[in-house]
Amino acid sequence: MSFTFSETVLDELAEQLSVRGYHVFDSEIPHDVCQALLTKMGVESDGFKHAAIGRGAGQQHQASIRGDKILWLTPECDTDNLYLDLMSQLRLAINRRLYLGLNEFESHYAIYQPGQYYQKHIDSLKGSQNRILTSVLFLNPNWQAEDQGELLIYDEQDQLIETISPTFGKWVVFLSEVFPHEVSATNVDRFSIAGWFRVSNSQHGY
Ligand code: OGA
Ligand code: MN
Repeated sequence: MSFTFSETVLDELAEQLSVRGYHVFDSEIPHDVCQALLTKMGVESDGFKHAAIGRGAGQQHQASIRGDKILWLTPECDTDNLYLDLMSQLRLAINRRLYLGLNEFESHYAIYQPGQYYQKHIDSLKGSQNRILTSVLFLNPNWQAEDQGELLIYDEQDQLIETISPTFGKWVVFLSEVFPHEVSATNVDRFSIAGWFRVSNSQHGY
């Protein structure tokens, strides 16, 4: 299942990130990779845990803010590596084109059950140099409009700019510090992988 993004796709992503800060791909991640990732989510569903909000001792589970259960990807798992390998291709390609110096990627599978959502939030605090780029891959086969659970993206003036249906294989990449976004309440089990490209401070010696 080894796969290489075409230079055209990587050029387009870099271009869109620099002109408007985000891009949506309908089906750039190979179908068999998406299928393997979704299968893993089903097989491992018992290992998913409620996501915590906040950092360190302030961490708590607040279903009123986000209801999803998550499982972090790890390079020890061959299936996870299918995705991690694609994201590292992207990281290197974006670094070459936009000089972002991204040196880390972390990501988790997420399952939202009926009625669950994630309130509007920003993935990274401005200037924290933590999460620079967000990637979300959607894995819902046969998604219908009445299933809901769309990803809503807002601009810096808090105007809704994109309503992204979480259909199988759809993939969005956006600047983490710029765009507030939310997951609307889903009516069915909803599957996604959220990930973040980071610049780790330790590489700068502080
Ligand atoms: C997140 C997030 C969106 C999604 O986990 O920060 O915004 O569709 N996820 O899973
Ligand atoms: Mn988010």
